[in-house]
Amino acid sequence: MKANCWYGKHDVRVEEVPDPKIINRRDAVVKITSTAICGSDLHLYNGFVPTMEKGDILGHEFMGEVVDVGSEVKNLRQGDRVVVAFPISCGNCFFCQREMFSLCDNSNPNAWIAQKLFGHSPAGLYGYTHMLGGFAGGQAEYARVPFADVGALKIPDGLPDEKVLFMSDIFPTGYMAAENCNIQSGDTVAVWGCGPVGQFAIRSAFLLGAERVVAIDRFPERLRMAEQGGAETVNYEETDVYEYLMEKTGGLGPDSCIDAVGMEAHVPGVIGAYDRVKQSVMAETDRPHAFRQAVLACRKGGTVSVPGVYGGFDDKIPMGAFMNKALTLKTGQTHVQRYMKPLLERVRNGDIDPSFVITHRMRLEDAPSGYQTFLNKEDECIKVVLTP
Ligand SMILES: NC(=O)c1ccc[n+]([C@@H]2O[C@H](COP(=O)([O-])OP(=O)(O)OC[C@H]3O[C@@H](n4cnc5c(N)ncnc54)[C@H](O)[C@@H]3O)[C@@H](O)[C@H]2O)c1
Ligand SMILES: [Zn+2]
Ligand SMILES: [Zn+2]
Repeated sequence: MKANCWYGKHDVRVEEVPDPKIINRRDAVVKITSTAICGSDLHLYNGFVPTMEKGDILGHEFMGEVVDVGSEVKNLRQGDRVVVAFPISCGNCFFCQREMFSLCDNSNPNAWIAQKLFGHSPAGLYGYTHMLGGFAGGQAEYARVPFADVGALKIPDGLPDEKVLFMSDIFPTGYMAAENCNIQSGDTVAVWGCGPVGQFAIRSAFLLGAERVVAIDRFPERLRMAEQGGAETVNYEETDVYEYLMEKTGGLGPDSCIDAVGMEAHVPGVIGAYDRVKQSVMAETDRPHAFRQAVLACRKGGTVSVPGVYGGFDDKIPMGAFMNKALTLKTGQTHVQRYMKPLLERVRNGDIDPSFVITHRMRLEDAPSGYQTFLNKEDECIKVVLTP
């Protein structure tokens, strides 16, 4: 089959690789009909996440048709259309039982590597480093889906791929980010980053009862899309974000702040140089600029919710502000399986049509140019969907 493989910084290649097969009794093999490039893939593409190996198959947002199932997968059969959650989760462990699927204790065969870095290992993920399992990803013609009975959601007829594909990641991710804010009626939510995750966080904050959402980015087309979702917008290159947020909230600050940017924040000015230099010599693993701003702007007693991905050790975190303002921090890789069914209902009853975020449709073969276009925000790119 064809698959999009990682070869190093800014180097991905679509190659012929062996077809996946059933290995375990709870596996399924899915023939992929749609797959997408995620902001998280850019961290790999930019070479910021360790334990990738040349030839690794990328991709963790995919859906398709079941072509083979293991003997213990009772809820799926050949021909079913499914969307696959990006964390691989057993359904039975301490964490899965509590619906913390991205923390599954049974799905990462390389748990020891992650344990060294993080103290404990999160779940295995598709196409996302050997530290997180070394699983082949879904930017391919086929994928093996371990624990398919837990991770693959059957899609009813009549819903096109584009409306349900993002149930694999970014819709639940934006939704969990907003849910983590514990939104009360009348609340103002500020969202850093108007990429796909930020877009879903904005819409989810409204679904969950926020009165106002302020969205922060610098790309006009992304700010426009945020506005279409009901947000007020701030271009951080033109306006001081902290000042703006204080002015708009009578000095209180937003009730909750969502960092939908993560480890590769763009940072203008002196602090930016500091982070870039430290990150480039590996003295700091992340550029936590949006996170710092979120902590400083958040209302006292408020919540900072972090769907943005971080990888390691960060500098100049305003811990004093965090502690003295009695803030709450909520974060994590998304517990996708917890949200798939309820969000599918939201799509079916017309609360939201997730396809709004798609700007680019390409063939799988064009993945290398898709990565480049998405990374550089060329051609007003916000979300790329690939079809094998
Ligand atoms: N927690 C999860 O399970 C999960 C799932 C999917 C994605 N993510 C993460 O969410 C983040 C966003 O993903 P995406 O697909 O939307 O990516 P993206 O790269 O398209 O979007 C990031 C956006 O942040 C903006 N940005 C950069 N610096 C900023 C700053 N200083 N202030 C405000 N905005 C800034 C960029 O202009 C861009 O629009 C990434 O870190 C990704 O890894 C996490
Ligand atoms: Zn993702
Ligand atoms: Zn588990």
